Amino acid sequence: MKEDQREQRVLRAQDENDTKSIAFDIAGRLKAGDVIALTGDLGTGKTTFTKYLAQGLGIDHNINSPTFNIVKEHYGGRLPLYHFDVYRLGSGEELIDAGAEDYFYGDGVSVVEWADLVMDYLPEDAIVIHISYGEKEGERVYRCIF
Ligand SMILES: Nc1ncnc2c1ncn2[C@@H]1O[C@H](COP(=O)(O)OP(=O)(O)OP(=O)(O)O)[C@@H](O)[C@H]1O
Ligand SMILES: [Mg+2]
Repeated sequence: MKEDQREQRVLRAQDENDTKSIAFDIAGRLKAGDVIALTGDLGTGKTTFTKYLAQGLGIDHNINSPTFNIVKEHYGGRLPLYHFDVYRLGSGEELIDAGAEDYFYGDGVSVVEWADLVMDYLPEDAIVIHISYGEKEGERVYRCIF
């Protein structure tokens, strides 16, 4: 689907607690097979957002960046969460070779940090969430395409 035909929303967080509310709200709407493409500069909060998304799904263990694996699997919530970080990946083909499509089209929700590096390899209908810094410390802006 073309991006301009999709629902776009800009959500603003004044602090991390607002980020948590935004992530919980989105988590409540997710279904199996959803893929979230997370983009945004270093340190904007892609991992933090994923952590709250996991909490919103009812996953109670720690989420940190999957630095040494392409993907980390988290179970125990309403849906499984597959957390990708493709920052160190050489190419999108590597992502596909690693079996990512089994996750994307599987029984859980996939979140991809640094998705802009592999956007052409993600499902066309992936939810895109771009995070940027606001003016004040702790402020973040979420541009979402559902
Ligand atoms: N409103 C906010 N929402 C999310 N994180 C916030 C907010 N305000 C401050 N922070 C802080 O910003 C930092 C974000 O770090 P995080 O590792 O989540 O970013 P990242 O985008 O995943 O980084 P990287 O680019 O290295 O993967 C955390 O220390 C978090 O506490
Ligand atoms: Mg991160």
